[in-house]
Amino acid sequence: MVRVNEGVPDEQLNDTRDTLRLLETRRSASAKAMQGPGPSGEQLEQLLRIAVRVPDHGKLTPWRFILFEGDARKRAGDVLAGRWHELYPDHSEAMLDEQRGMLMRAPTVLCVVSSAAEHPKIPVWEQQLSAGAVCQNMLIAATAMGLGCQWITGWYAFDEKVLADFGLAAGEKVAGFIYLGTPKDPQGDRPRPEPEDLLTRWQG
Ligand SMILES: Cc1cc2nc3c(=O)[nH]c(=O)nc-3n(C[C@H](O)[C@H](O)[C@H](O)COP(=O)(O)O)c2cc1C
Repeated sequence: MVRVNEGVPDEQLNDTRDTLRLLETRRSASAKAMQGPGPSGEQLEQLLRIAVRVPDHGKLTPWRFILFEGDARKRAGDVLAGRWHELYPDHSEAMLDEQRGMLMRAPTVLCVVSSAAEHPKIPVWEQQLSAGAVCQNMLIAATAMGLGCQWITGWYAFDEKVLADFGLAAGEKVAGFIYLGTPKDPQGDRPRPEPEDLLTRWQG
């Protein structure tokens, strides 16, 4: 059997081991317990470059990004609070405050938008899967940079009025809001599924 890393120098094999270790131990931080700093400008640029390096059947680029930083996060929170007020007139002040603070939980929030659309050859489902891969690439890259990150949706990811205010076009969907920052506390792991329990060996 020819191994793909045959002839690869030792230093590079160490890099490979680091990469596998990263993938084996990656876990999300909690957006509820995040603080600054977030990614630097340079890190953000690199995160996006890595995020777009995903399988994409038909090379359709069926995704894009909306960045929430600085005071824009506060204005986004005002949008959420305004919509919450409209949906639930009997809301409590505490709930409104929660909405206002939603995007303030992390210094940087990147919305990954799925712009999948009907195509003669490429199913919408495949385009949407590609957007999921964008989110996951971003988590892996952010983790490698030592940042905390969490992939979140929440009610506002499914509310058409909020989405229109955030600049999504009709038919576009939120694949996820990626909250990026620095975890306040060390993050414990969660139980992970046993891969063997999920595996069926097809025998024909
Ligand atoms: C599409 C999608 C949406 C999610 N939305 C939320 C959410 O709204 N709130 C939440 O607490 N976790 C949400 N999660 C789960 C977290 O991203 C993450 O799985 C959880 O924090 C455990 O992280 P880990 O398994 O990466 O360590 C979502 C995950 C996915 C894939």
